[in-house]
Amino acid sequence: MKKTLKYLKPYWRGVAAGLFLKLLGSVAELFLPLLLEYVINDVATNAALSSDVKIRMIVISGVLMVVCSLTALLGNIFANRLTVKSSGNMTHDLRYDLFQKTCYLSSKQTDEIGVPSLISRLTSDSYYVNQMTARTLRLGVRAPILILGGLILAFWRDVTLALVLLACVPIVGIVVSLITRKSVPLFSNVQKKQDVMVRDLQENITGVRIIKALGKTEYETEKFDGTVKDLASREFRANRLNSLSNPLATLILNLGLVAVIVVGAVYGKKTGTILAFLQYFVIILNAMIALSKIFVVISRGSASAARIAKVLDLDVGETVEELPEGDKSYKIVFDDVSFSYNGVKDDVRNVSFALKPGQTLGVIGATGSGKSTLVALMMRFYDVGKGRVLIDGKDVKSYTLKELRAKFGAAFQNGFLISDTVRKNVDYGRDLSEEEIDEAIDAAQARELVEGLEGGLDFVLAQKANNLSGGQKQRLLVARALAGKPEIIVLDDSSSALDYATDAALRRAISTRYENITKVIVAQRVSAVKNADLILVLDDGEVIGLGKHDELLNTCREYAMIYAAQMGGEEYGTLSAE
Ligand SMILES: Nc1ncnc2c1ncn2[C@@H]1O[C@H](COP(=O)(O)OP(=O)(O)O)[C@@H](O)[C@H]1O
Ligand SMILES: [Mg+2]
Repeated sequence: MKKTLKYLKPYWRGVAAGLFLKLLGSVAELFLPLLLEYVINDVATNAALSSDVKIRMIVISGVLMVVCSLTALLGNIFANRLTVKSSGNMTHDLRYDLFQKTCYLSSKQTDEIGVPSLISRLTSDSYYVNQMTARTLRLGVRAPILILGGLILAFWRDVTLALVLLACVPIVGIVVSLITRKSVPLFSNVQKKQDVMVRDLQENITGVRIIKALGKTEYETEKFDGTVKDLASREFRANRLNSLSNPLATLILNLGLVAVIVVGAVYGKKTGTILAFLQYFVIILNAMIALSKIFVVISRGSASAARIAKVLDLDVGETVEELPEGDKSYKIVFDDVSFSYNGVKDDVRNVSFALKPGQTLGVIGATGSGKSTLVALMMRFYDVGKGRVLIDGKDVKSYTLKELRAKFGAAFQNGFLISDTVRKNVDYGRDLSEEEIDEAIDAAQARELVEGLEGGLDFVLAQKANNLSGGQKQRLLVARALAGKPEIIVLDDSSSALDYATDAALRRAISTRYENITKVIVAQRVSAVKNADLILVLDDGEVIGLGKHDELLNTCREYAMIYAAQMGGEEYGTLSAE
């Protein structure tokens, strides 16, 4: 809560001005009943005054009442504007920082919180914090002033009637706070369900093709329908309870009004005084209802603020350690590396290899064998559990992440394209020259593809590049990895959707044009890694073969088997995935 409130600080001027106007408006509102009482008791029903004087006094009082009303109205309008602006600005800053933090989270931290939860924190939670701030600024000052000021003025005017009023206040207070207390957990229930809905929605939208392909549309729709219905019924329960507070408070209010009139009649109070009290009654009880509403918003908002603060508080500070250096003549060294995602079972075990600058490492293995994990460890998306990873003889933990990642140009298996132009996708904010982009497009075998698109490099991709085929996407991702001439090119399963001829052309282009660059090629096809200087065969996280193609054919039975199976298939031409 503190953490998020801090975001209001830069806008304190607007907040202060808003609160001041609120104060002014509320005080002006409290004067209205006093003026009314004066007009009725001391002017209209005063036999000692001549009718001329009466009219003059009534007009003056009327003008004063209009002035008070206008002050209350304008004060409120401008104050609301200022507070909405301050809370809006605050939400913007909060979201900005939260997004930035989200981008800097380590892969491990992202796994722990979960992407859907991060999304809800950025969207609905920050909205609730906004609501909390805006409402509190709007009513947090106004309501207490109206209640306290109203009570003080009431006691000043007439103690007997004020006691009637005072008796009603705790009753309303108890009813409203009981309802509020019950509805708060219901609202946090709603929030939890919202996380589930976002997760389901995200899964469905991402997997819409697969869902369609497997004919699971109905199943998923029904499942989603269930989630939405559940959410709706939770929301209904929370709101149903919460909406009780208004009618109940109104009932008490009306009973109180009757009590004021009865007591006023019994004690022979003047009409003006009774009227003024009726007004105080309405003002005070409405303020109490408003205050109870703020409590709901505050409890919901502070739960959200806590969720946001949890992300903001995560330490993404890089730990750059001074660690012993290794042999600088190698570009990449894995020294007995083991790693586990969940800390239970090692997802890769005792991996060791060394690669010289300019060499190509081929990594092959079944899905789930740990290929992408090796890449992730190399680029320090995760820290190794055991052993060490050296780049240029230096432990990856001794680099800043920026330094380390600047060495890589990577196309990931699940790499994503932004919904922007082809040029921006390849450049990706690096301000590359036209030649660099062209060169990368050529090498990635994407020239023909780009020329075929309307506008060429300026063609705008749809969201998730849905207007491109799998192979087209892969080529653009590869172009991005190649552009800017990194020191190490990483292609993780980046040609799986290319036809054999294009794949072969891509491999040729990479090995000739990027001769001096170190390459890591992850693939399922032997043909993609066959010419590598070093091939690593992975099986269930373990290295079962390491060497050149010819050696592996003799030393690694699995490799030879994969090779035999795949070469057999490819003689019959290629199965294009496009
Ligand atoms: N983010 C993750 N959290 C937990 N487990 C993961 C994660 N990513 C991959 N794994 C697990 O690690 C193993 C290796 O995965 P991966 O390296 O992606 O395989 P490959 O790239 O060879 O298909 C798999 O068993 C997979 O389930
Ligand atoms: Mg993979």
